[in-house]
Amino acid sequence: MAENNRVALVTGGAKRVGRAIVLQLAKAGYDIAITYRTSENAANSLVDELRHAGRRALAIEADLTQVESSVELIHREVRQYFGRLDVLVNSASIYKAATLAQTDIQLLRQLDAIHVHAPLLLCQGFSAMLRENRGHVINMVDLLAARPWPDYMAYCASKAGLWSLTMSLARELAPEVTVNGIAPGVVQWPDDMPLLQREQYLKRVALARTGTPQDVAELVEFLITRGTYITGQIIRLDGGRSLF
Ligand SMILES: NC(=O)c1ccc[n+]([C@@H]2O[C@H](COP(=O)([O-])OP(=O)(O)OC[C@H]3O[C@@H](n4cnc5c(N)ncnc54)[C@H](OP(=O)(O)O)[C@@H]3O)[C@@H](O)[C@H]2O)c1
Repeated sequence: MAENNRVALVTGGAKRVGRAIVLQLAKAGYDIAITYRTSENAANSLVDELRHAGRRALAIEADLTQVESSVELIHREVRQYFGRLDVLVNSASIYKAATLAQTDIQLLRQLDAIHVHAPLLLCQGFSAMLRENRGHVINMVDLLAARPWPDYMAYCASKAGLWSLTMSLARELAPEVTVNGIAPGVVQWPDDMPLLQREQYLKRVALARTGTPQDVAELVEFLITRGTYITGQIIRLDGGRSLF
């Protein structure tokens, strides 16, 4: 169990993988702040569920493509409501296809904002609290950062930025704070992924199945509890996809 009043912030925490991380950390005794952009109902009902279970919890509406204003807002709300931060999980993401011809400057700016600029500025804003509490940062990267798909060029490039940033931050925030990345293959399909593409993908996964959001949640918990000699690593959570 976490010490009393330890606090975790999970961006994009209302649904899917972020939600699984939130529930795992709450079970481990953390109070929770989440950010959401469109999932207001899911965010509010998750906060209710956490409070009912005896945790302090807060949902913050923030568009992380508007980096400066959203990071300032998140920092202010967490400071006012909890007064501390121990764990930061950068999970919010925009998964958007675009070939070279379809990629424009607006998309590049959006993806870099949410995958690189926001995690960097959140770490900057919370660095004093994280250092003081000997905290942990987890960045949700993607196997596609190292094995890019041309149809998702800007997405892959921005996640590669987050991969590199994870290593820089690990050096910068040491020795007080650990910083690691998790690079899933597939742990939850995008809702609109066609069946045929799913089957083709799984043919090249050694374990012949997808992972689950719970696999991510348990790895996050491990990295912030028992795995505290690990820093600056990107852990592939891909069922062996990267072996092929
Ligand atoms: N699912 C997988 O198999 C998989 C594979 C590889 C990597 N990952 C990584 O793991 C993390 C979690 O995966 P996921 O599938 O749960 O992610 P996701 O559903 O694609 O996105 C997570 C959340 O990001 C939030 N978001 C989107 N645009 C935003 C914006 N402009 N500002 C703030 N928040 C915004 C959304 O919040 P709202 O719903 O509130 O709008 C969304 O619920 C992501 O970083 C993803 O890249 C996942």
